[in-house]
Parts: sequence; structure tokens; C-alpha cells
Amino acid sequence: MWGMSGVDEEDRLDPDEAKRVIRRAARMAAPFKRTVGGAVGFSAINTLGLLAGPVIVRYGIDDGIAAGDFGALRAAVIAYIVVVACAYLASRQQYVLVNRAGEGFLRLLRIRVFGHIQRQSLAFFDRNKSGVLVARMTADIESMAELVQWGLLQFVSAALLVTFALVLLVVLSWQLTIVALLVLPVLVVASRKFRRDSNAAYLDVRDNVGQNLSTLQEGIAGVRVIQAYAREPEQTRRFEDSNRGLYRSHIHSLKVSTWFFGLVEAAGIIAAALAIGFGGWLENRGDVTIGTVIAVVLLVTQLFEPVQQLSQLYNTVQSSAASLNKLFGILDTEPDIGDGPRDLPATGDVVVAGVGFRYPGTDALVLSDISITVGDGERLALVGPTGAGKSTVAKLIARLYDPTTGTISFGGVDLRDARIESLRHRVVVVPQEGYLFGGTIADNIRVAQADATDDDVRDALRAIGALSRFEEFEDGIHTEVRERGSRLSAGERQLVSLARAALVDPAVLVLDEATSNLDPGTEAIVEQALESLMTGRTTIVVAHRLSTIRRADRIAVIDHGQLTELGTHDELMALGGRYAALADAWAKSQPTA
Ligand SMILES: Nc1ncnc2c1ncn2[C@@H]1O[C@H](COP(=O)(O)OP(=O)(O)OP(=O)(O)O)[C@@H](O)[C@H]1O
Ligand SMILES: [Mg+2]
Repeated sequence: MWGMSGVDEEDRLDPDEAKRVIRRAARMAAPFKRTVGGAVGFSAINTLGLLAGPVIVRYGIDDGIAAGDFGALRAAVIAYIVVVACAYLASRQQYVLVNRAGEGFLRLLRIRVFGHIQRQSLAFFDRNKSGVLVARMTADIESMAELVQWGLLQFVSAALLVTFALVLLVVLSWQLTIVALLVLPVLVVASRKFRRDSNAAYLDVRDNVGQNLSTLQEGIAGVRVIQAYAREPEQTRRFEDSNRGLYRSHIHSLKVSTWFFGLVEAAGIIAAALAIGFGGWLENRGDVTIGTVIAVVLLVTQLFEPVQQLSQLYNTVQSSAASLNKLFGILDTEPDIGDGPRDLPATGDVVVAGVGFRYPGTDALVLSDISITVGDGERLALVGPTGAGKSTVAKLIARLYDPTTGTISFGGVDLRDARIESLRHRVVVVPQEGYLFGGTIADNIRVAQADATDDDVRDALRAIGALSRFEEFEDGIHTEVRERGSRLSAGERQLVSLARAALVDPAVLVLDEATSNLDPGTEAIVEQALESLMTGRTTIVVAHRLSTIRRADRIAVIDHGQLTELGTHDELMALGGRYAALADAWAKSQPTA
């Protein structure tokens, strides 16, 4: 159906591009060759059956009725029934096979694209918003489905039918054929116009569907904000507007189709009338039999439905090729975080040397010339105002991105040379907001290490002192968290996040403390868990809690992407700079910390 991604220049491919894309899809569909071949075979049988009908009728009339031979008539009737039955069975089989091949192909495509998306670096997700990726996997795949399931079938059977019918017509009576097909030029001109108009109508509907969907999505996702500011009438009005557009575009598209299909039908009737009129005259002169005239009329009427189908197919192929092209675009994107040859050592220091960074696709440097050495087992706190670049430093150390300039190394190995798998074992980053998947608490902790047993999970929770918290639940660690963890409190979500890291037991821990405020009781548990997790590892923590900062060996102040101060708490207090000011402010606002 219609896509919801509104990127219009990608929706038209020039014919060469479209051919290239379709050819590539055909190569990908190679495993389904035999199934498709079978479908084409059955389609041919079905078509032959459809065409045999008029020929049998001709025999029944000329050799049965006109000749007064009732044996021949009976034979014609029986043959007709047999042929129709065979055609029915063949057509059924053809549907089954085409859909089997089509669904198989779509499954292959979906799995490939999804697997490819999962392997991409974060930079890829900065470039491709999740809404667009979801559209690729749904709307674009669906638009493909239309082609592979219906389009292919229609194309094969319509093309066969038109070819065979024309041959048969000429054999029956070339004079009648020429007269009946006098309407053809009109049809050719009309179908050109239809292609153009329906194409424009299709794009218009698509745009309107996209508009409507995004209004809908905003209205649902933003409903809390909308209600808080009493914007419901305004939202409803916007939705009404976009719905009016959608309604108009659908009606317009319908009008475009109905005039054309009406015309095709009228052309079919005129062609049949011409065949009957001219046929009657020819029969009178003794050039053709009545049976031939009727057979020609029947064949001519059959000819016009496939013409209709083929003109519709043009748009389907166009939009499917555009969708395929976008999907191939994803498949052609190589992950930009490459796998290196070296294993990271079990312990060592983290050296950030002259690192500058800009997010892919943006101009502004968010970090410039940062150099810090974190000793083995040292605890470094990163502090600074919001937007300073602290989380970015954390992401670089965990190699979620590569630095734009400079290097980051662990135990003397540049992270770019490290095997990704060994990197993910040695360095674990606990993000600011840990994502919870559908499933149980245990499942969510196991995300860090798929083969961990329930006991491993319990050990991890125990190690951070959070086991009792979850065992209080009725189902313990097997409690369902529901989508996005809506059933867990903010503090519990953080504990799950920390337990994941504890399960991996890495040498280097990169922690991005959540900024959300917790109630004092929960805060104490989370703080305790953090402390247990950090003990005995090299830790780089983006700190938002004064308690975390105070327990750090050294503190790095990041401001506007630069390292402005670095030292112990006492050193920085003595310096009397930014950190001293921050610490004073904190001390005043949190007298208990
Ligand atoms: N994916 C991204 N693409 C482009 N720019 C980004 C991206 N993520 C962050 N930035 C920008 O980089 C700068 C640093 O962001 P960062 O998240 O590192 O700040 P922070 O110090 O962690 O702030 P906070 O304390 O609020 O978490 C900000 O200006 C931010 O807008
Ligand atoms: Mg941050």
C-alpha cells in the first residue's frame, strides 16, 4: 500500500534505475525460481483453458447446432466443462505458488534488512530516524508485497492471455480481428494518459497518508502534553484538515481510475459490436461461419480485462521499485564501526589522546582536543553543565562512535584495532536511560549475556545489593516488565541497567548517571548498587550526584566540549575554578549529601 515516508525525490526512479533494481531483486529471488516456474506453468494452463472455451463454442455451434449433430454438441459441452474445471484448478494452484514464492521472498528481505539494521553503529541511527526505519520495514515491504503477490501473477497471466488470444484471433479470421481491434489506438492513448494521471494521484494519496499518519502519531505520542495545555480542539482540527486532504485525494484517484476503466469496458463492447456487425456481413458472404464470429466476439471481450490489469501494473512496478531501492540502500550501508584484529588486554589504562568529535552529518565540533589518562582501577568523574559533551565522551570510550580526530586506547590497543567482541567484554557502557525490552526482569538482565543462567542473574543482582528488592515481587526476577518497563519505577529500571553491567563483569565501566531524581530511599539503594559495581574496576562516570563525585579519585570538568579542569576534589577546590563553584552550589542545595 502507500508508504508513509515522505521523501519524494526517492519515489521516482528513472527507467534504467528501475530495471537495475528489479534485476537485483530477481537475483535475490533465485531460491524461488522453481516455485515461480511452477506458477508460470499453471498460469499457462489456465490461460489455455480460457482460450479453449471460445474454440469449443465455435465447434459446438458449427459442427453441432448448425450441422444438426447432437453428438458433436454433447461432446462440446462436456469438453467445455472439463476445460473450465482444469482452468479453475490451475488458477488456484498458480495463486498458491505465487504467494508462496512472494511471501518467501518478503521474509528473506525482511530478515536481511533487519539483521543489517541491527549491526549498524549509532551514527547510522542518527542519520536514519526510527520512524523512517519502521516505514522501510512496513510500508516499503508492503508495497513490495503488492508487486510480488499480485503484480507478478497479473503480469504473467495477462501477458500470456493477450499474446495467445491475438494469435488465435488471427488464425480464426484476420479480417475480423483487424476490424474488432480498430478501437485499439484509442485505448493506447487513453492508457498513456491514465498512467500519468494515476501516477500523480498515487503520489498525492501517499503524501496525504503520510501527513495523516504523522498527525495521528503526534496526537497519540504527545497526548500528555496536549492535555496538559488543553490543546485537544486544536489537535482535532489539525487531524480534520489532514483527513479532508486524504479524502479528497482518494476520491480524485478513484475518479481517475473509473473514467479509464469505464473507457476500457466501453471499448470492449464496441469491439464486440464491430465484430458482430462485420462478422454478420462476412458470414452472409460465406467467408466465415457463425461459430467463428461468436468465438471472435468471446475472445475480444476476454482481451480487454488484461489490458486494464497491465496498465494498473505499471504503477505497482514503479512504486515497488522505489521501495526496493530504499531497502537496498540500507543493505548497501556497511557498518562504519569496523571489526579490528586485536583482543583487548584484561586490565590496563584508558588513554584519551587529543580527541575531537563531531556527530556524523553535523558541522559543530562537540568535543575538541580532549586528553585524559585513566589509570588501571582508577575512578574518574566527568562533570559539567548540560550539553557540555560528557555523554559524548562516554560513548567514544565505549566506541559507540569513532573520534573524528585523536585516538582512544585501552591497555595500549587503539580501540579501532580491537575486535568488537572483546571490546564489548572489556568495556561496558551503562547509558543514561537504559532501555527495557518486553519480557521478564531476568530476560532484561540477560540482554548483557544471553547464556547466563537464573543463578548468574541472581548473582549479578546480589553483587549490586539489589536482589532482595526484586525478590519481594510476587514472581521475583521472573516478573514481566511490560513494554518499556512501564511497571518498574525509575530506580528499579536503573538497578536492572546496573545489573546488566555486573553480569558482564568488565574491566572498564563507563557509567552515564541518570539525571532523574529518585526518592531518598530508592536513591540510597541505587547509590549502593553503583558503589558495588564500580569497586575494583576502572570507572569513568558521568556524574550527576555529588556523592558519586566525592567518591571519585579524580574529577574532569568538561565545558563546551573542552577539558577545562582535571584533578582531585581537593586540588580543584584549591584551584577555586568552575568545579569549586559547582561544589559549593551543590553543597548548599543538598545539605545531606
Ligand atoms: N546524536 C547526536 N547528534 C548530533 N548532536 C548530538 C547528538 N547527541 C548529542 N549531541 C550534541 O552534542 C552536545 C553534547 O551532548 P552530550 O549528550 O554529550 O551532553 P552532556 O554533557 O551529556 O549533557 P547532559 O548533562 O544534559 O546529559 C550537545 O550539544 C548535543 O546537542
Ligand atoms: Mg548526558
